[in-house]
This record gives sequence, structure tokens and C-alpha cells, in this order.
Amino acid sequence: MNHFEYRHHVLHCEEVPVPLIAQGVGTPFYLYSSATLTRHFLAMDQAFADLPHLTCFAVKSCSNLAVLNLFAGLGGGADIVSGGELFRALAAGVEPRKIVYSGVGKTPEEMRYALLSGILMFNVESSQELAALQAVAAGLGVKAPVALRINPDVDPQTHAYISTGLAKNKFGLPIEQAAAVYEEAKGLSHIEVVGVSCHIGSQLTSVAPFVESIHKVIAFIRRLTGLGITVKYLDMGGGLGIRYDQENPPEPAEYAAALKQALAEAPGCTLIIEPGRVIVGNAAILVTKVLYTKSGAKHFIVVDAGMNDLARPSLYGAHHAVLPVMERGQGQMTADLVGPICETGDFLARERPLPESESGDLLAVLSAGAYGFSMSSNYNSRPRVAEVMVRGDKFQVIRQRETLASLIQGERIPDWE
Ligand code: LLP
Repeated sequence: MNHFEYRHHVLHCEEVPVPLIAQGVGTPFYLYSSATLTRHFLAMDQAFADLPHLTCFAVKSCSNLAVLNLFAGLGGGADIVSGGELFRALAAGVEPRKIVYSGVGKTPEEMRYALLSGILMFNVESSQELAALQAVAAGLGVKAPVALRINPDVDPQTHAYISTGLAKNKFGLPIEQAAAVYEEAKGLSHIEVVGVSCHIGSQLTSVAPFVESIHKVIAFIRRLTGLGITVKYLDMGGGLGIRYDQENPPEPAEYAAALKQALAEAPGCTLIIEPGRVIVGNAAILVTKVLYTKSGAKHFIVVDAGMNDLARPSLYGAHHAVLPVMERGQGQMTADLVGPICETGDFLARERPLPESESGDLLAVLSAGAYGFSMSSNYNSRPRVAEVMVRGDKFQVIRQRETLASLIQGERIPDWE
């Protein structure tokens, strides 16, 4: 459930009519509903209320300070994958002891920053990374808390670009190698083994792959116990999908029930989850304005948002529903919804029944909260759009639209002397 709905044929975000915001901030803009963000965070977090757990929001899915701050206020932690995300999480008020650091390519500088910040743990993905972390921790005279990321070789049945738990993916350690790397970790002076982690992919629409992988991870934890290694944290990553179109993903409660059943076999472990999309995906829309329409072999609706603002359709062929902001009894037409970018791959929807539109109409691109703004770029030298948050009958800009000056900030014409 989300808080975007029509009232008297005008799309509202909570109590605020969307056209009012467009008047105030211009278009395009991302529009977040704080009630929806809160509801989705709590649905996920409370589904695990009866066992020791920590919900670490995947910052990469939506990294605006206001959004991170909202989850921090609800007791959330953060799953980060860069020094930049650590900086954001700390600036937003996330407690360092609730931050887990994932990713295959952490640099020594990033490791140092995270160690000095006192994060909960590093999800380490290779033996070389472990050695690098040991060296950085030794230099600082501290112990680095570590979970090794296991690659369980489970098919998440999702888009190939966002599958991470297959043996052929770059992520994690094959289970067969992982025990040896744990033994290695145990012998390192500045490493403290605290957990096991795993993340098999994103936008999963059934619980079966999660169940298959948690069973593999728990069997692995038992093996570790046999080797005299005990772990405190079992990090199962994120990945629960949402409905963009016709998908029927499990509800958080169903997902939680499946994980909890398996977890009964791993008593004493605190569960960590790293949800991103399921919390923010349907909590935001992208509002864009129709510039022109044109027809030839096909119909095109040209809007002021493009693939630089929302990359998912171009990059993954992803489906995002499109609704008119004002319902005025318009029919539908099969058309491509395209942006101003100079590439044929620049589309937000292709060959879809779309609201019959004319210049000046506002359209809402739905389910844009996850990997929407956070993947946007300045391609074609387009300033990144504004982000706005609604709470009840109020709205506030949570990220200003970039200016033309911001586009060239830091650039310099060399003066070869
Ligand atoms: N934890 C780790 C280690 C991850 O790599 C990811 C996502 C998550 C958690 C959060 O997954 P979620 O709950 O959001 O599915 N840009 C793509 C999605 C990339 C996902 C990358 N990793 C998209 O727009 O679909």
C-alpha cells in the first residue's frame, strides 16, 4: 500500500496535490511520501520483531539524507558499499554500530574511514580483501569486525544484471573456499570474525531462493562451529521484490516467516537484513511534464525527464507504470514515453498504452523510489532533478534541483605554462 492516490481526479501524495508541488518546484522531480516510507520500513522491521535482528537499509537504493534520517529515527541501520555512502549514513544520523559495509572493491582509504567510524562489520568478499583489511586495521591498532560473504550458488530468478548469488557472479566466496578463508581470518591479529553474510540478488519475487540460500548458509555456520568458529551475525542481504507491473512478490511477513523457520536451526545468531527496494520502491514517483507529442511510424510523448533521471527502463528494460497527474477523462494511446537525451535507448516506457497527452500535461512515473534518483546522472549536461518529501499536508524540498553552475563545478581549463 502507498499514499499516492487520486482525489477528485487529481493525483495526491498523502494530503498534497501533486500539481501544487510542480508549481512550486518545477519539473521533473522525485516525490517521496514519508508515510509510505515509514510504513514500508516498519512492515519489514516488525516482521522480524520476535527475534534479535537489525534492519540495515541498503543506502544505494535511495541515498537522500532525509530518507536515511527517517529510517535512522525508526531504529534502522545502513548497508553501505562505499566511503561516500558511509559519509551519507553518518551525516543522516545512522549509528555507526548499525552500519554494515558490503561490496567487492573496498579501497584501503575506505576501510580506514569505516574502521575509524566504528562500524558494526565489514562483509568481506575475498581473501585479498581480508589481507588488505588486516593491514589497514593493524596500521590503526584496531580489530576489524568481519563477516565473510558466501556465494551460495542459488539462482534468484531475476534480471541477469542484478543476480549476485550464482557461482558465475563476481560476488562472495564459493562455499567450498569459504571455510579455509575463515580459518585464515581466525589466525589474523587484527581481524575479529563476527558473522556470515550473503546476498543473492535483487527484485526477487518468490521466497524459494531465499530459503534455499539460508539453508546453505546455516549448514555452513554449523561447519564453522565444528572448526571452533562461532558467529554472532547472520546477514541475509536484501533482495525482496516489489510490484512494478504484474509481479506478485511475497509480503514481508511471508518472507520473514520463511527465514525465521530456517533460523530456528541457528540459535544465538542476530539476523541482519539489508532491504532497499521493498522499502523505498513504491514510496516515490517521478513527476515529469509533457513537452511535445509527435507521430510517424509510431506515437511519441516527449517529456522533460530522461534516462539520465531514471535509468532503469533503458538499463534493464524495466517496467514503470505511468499515470496522468490530472484525470480529465483522456483516453489511452499506445506510444513511447521518451526523454530529451540524444539516444534511441532513452525511454521511460515503450510501446505502452499511455494517457493521451498534450504539451504541458504532468505524468507520474510510478515505483521510482528505488534506484531512481540514486542512479541518476548529468548525462547530456542535464542538472539532476529536485527531490521532494511530503508529510501529511506539507512538502519540503529534500534536494535542490542542480543549477547550470553546478554542472561545471570542479572543472578547469588548464593553463599550460
Ligand atoms: N545488499 C547488497 C549487498 C546488495 O548488493 C543490494 C543490492 C542490497 C542489499 C539491496 O537489494 P534490494 O533489497 O534493493 O533488492 N540497480 C538495480 C538494483 C541493483 C541492486 C544491487 N544490490 C535496479 O535498479 O534494479
